[in-house]
Amino acid sequence: IFSEVAAKNNQTLFIVGGYVRDLLMKRQSPTDIDFVTEGNGIELAKSIAKELNPKLKVSIFKNYGTAMFKHEGLDLEFVGARKESYAEDSRKPSVEIGTLEDDQKRRDFTINALALSLNKENFGDLIDPFDGVQDIKKKILRTPLEPSQTYSDDPLRMMRAIRFASTLNFKIEENSLNAIKNESERIKIVSLERIMVEFNKIMLSAKPSLGLKLMEETGLMQLIIPELTALKGIEEVEGQTHKDNFWHTLEVVDNISANTDNLWLRWAALLHDIGKAPTKKFVDGIGWTFHGHEFLGSKMVKNLFYRLKLPLGTDMKYVQKLVKLSSRPIALVDDGTSDSALRRLLFDAGEDLEDLFILNKADITTKNSSKQAKFKRNFEEVAIKIKE
Ligand code: CTP
Repeated sequence: IFSEVAAKNNQTLFIVGGYVRDLLMKRQSPTDIDFVTEGNGIELAKSIAKELNPKLKVSIFKNYGTAMFKHEGLDLEFVGARKESYAEDSRKPSVEIGTLEDDQKRRDFTINALALSLNKENFGDLIDPFDGVQDIKKKILRTPLEPSQTYSDDPLRMMRAIRFASTLNFKIEENSLNAIKNESERIKIVSLERIMVEFNKIMLSAKPSLGLKLMEETGLMQLIIPELTALKGIEEVEGQTHKDNFWHTLEVVDNISANTDNLWLRWAALLHDIGKAPTKKFVDGIGWTFHGHEFLGSKMVKNLFYRLKLPLGTDMKYVQKLVKLSSRPIALVDDGTSDSALRRLLFDAGEDLEDLFILNKADITTKNSSKQAKFKRNFEEVAIKIKE
């Protein structure tokens, strides 16, 4: 039906973007499909929807020249091929009608610039002017145009590069990585909502440290969540050092990600030591201390969620609570567990006790195997006592 209606309207029709990429990579079933036509996208969407089912509701976004409707559980989005140029200091593009190749050129990465023809003369052909298939095989993220052009057209793409690197386990090609490093400051013109959509996809990837490391390396972390960059580094006083809390945090996030897909539990791991940079002190006779970091940390969680425009309701409170309690189960044992302290923990953790244990286990990152065994033993002791 799709190609017949397009032919009847004298328009070409192609599937582009993530659907084609995921098809070639044999990744999970799609939720949306993007179509491009050389001609009017809105009119074609309307004609196709009418042919499928006259009652279908088509949503039209005139400003973007796009239209979409739902069909068999999928979001189908249509757009007319465009030539686009962006003004220096804004995301608002000036749009001109273009060919398929113009449209492919202005996409973010070669792996997202593949098109599948739905036209009679070459139905099913893959149109790949920028060697996206090669890049899928080589696991490389490369921009169709000069990286600085692609990224300045939409600086969110710097975050998208890192997001795809993290979720697909791809490498960002060297020129591209350098362009991100040089232009990271331009992320400031992008709304936090769009940035956090990409950030949360990094957090939900199998190994979030891949993306978090790239954010740090490119300077984007310092610009978006400087509180995490502040955890970096090791200081030495009188021959005593402390662990680098930034790298430790990445390890904890990876550990927890092996055990849960709960986004906010992963966030709790990301922020569990956030209070350590501002509370760090060297005390004579004791060494490095981070006194009260859990309390300060849970306050910082609120400010951070507010600034990053993350939800401020139960999800934020849950993260705050886990950050506040994060080291208590292990600390309890070191202090000699008393029943009242256990009862207090039980009361404070409430229904989130199980998640607190998951966080605590992920937090044991010491390479010293006897220390590791001791922590695990102590921690399990507390867990068992509490469950009793
Ligand atoms: N795109 C782009 N630049 C952006 C966002 C999107 O060039 N800043 C293009 C890419 O070609 C992308 C397509 O629009 O493939 C659809 O974008 P989106 O739905 O956000 O991503 P997908 O590639 O579909 O990936 P996923 O479904 O994993 O989010």
